[in-house]
Amino acid sequence: MLKKKLQKALNDQINAEMYSSYLYLSMESYFQSISLGGFANWMRGQVQEELMHGMKFYDFVVERGGRVTLDAIAKPEAEWKSPLDAFEAILKHEQHVTSLVNDLVNLAISEKDHATNIFLQWFVSEQVEEEATVGGIVDRLRLIKDNPSGLFMLDAELSKRVFDPAGE
Ligand code: FEO
Repeated sequence: MLKKKLQKALNDQINAEMYSSYLYLSMESYFQSISLGGFANWMRGQVQEELMHGMKFYDFVVERGGRVTLDAIAKPEAEWKSPLDAFEAILKHEQHVTSLVNDLVNLAISEKDHATNIFLQWFVSEQVEEEATVGGIVDRLRLIKDNPSGLFMLDAELSKRVFDPAGE
């Protein structure tokens, strides 16, 4: 049985993951509005991935005999100054999510909830991967600066992303 303190924290994380999905959907719309379909496609992958993260937390709470209670999802930003501005915002957001996951691990350890701690390890690794991927795109956008051909090449590359739920 899940302790109330952990149940509350895991419910908060469901909301954080749903907000991430909503934020990335807003970014997908921003990229569509500036005719960068490849970037928009990459964001769609993020939208689906975050939704899957939220559902992983949801299923875990239920599996542990806890109760999921859904809260309002905050309104995301709608505009960014440039693709670089948007990707810097993604990186900052993912760093924030990493700190939330780390706080959850600390709580699971202090509450001696080993099952939750083990469950969270997947997210610890996932955040390393997320920050590395997004950080790599930020670096490339910094190199590209205002070069349209560089931007279109990156757009073509990002158009190839296919969300694979099994690959996570
Ligand atoms: Fe669910 Fe991108 O962290």
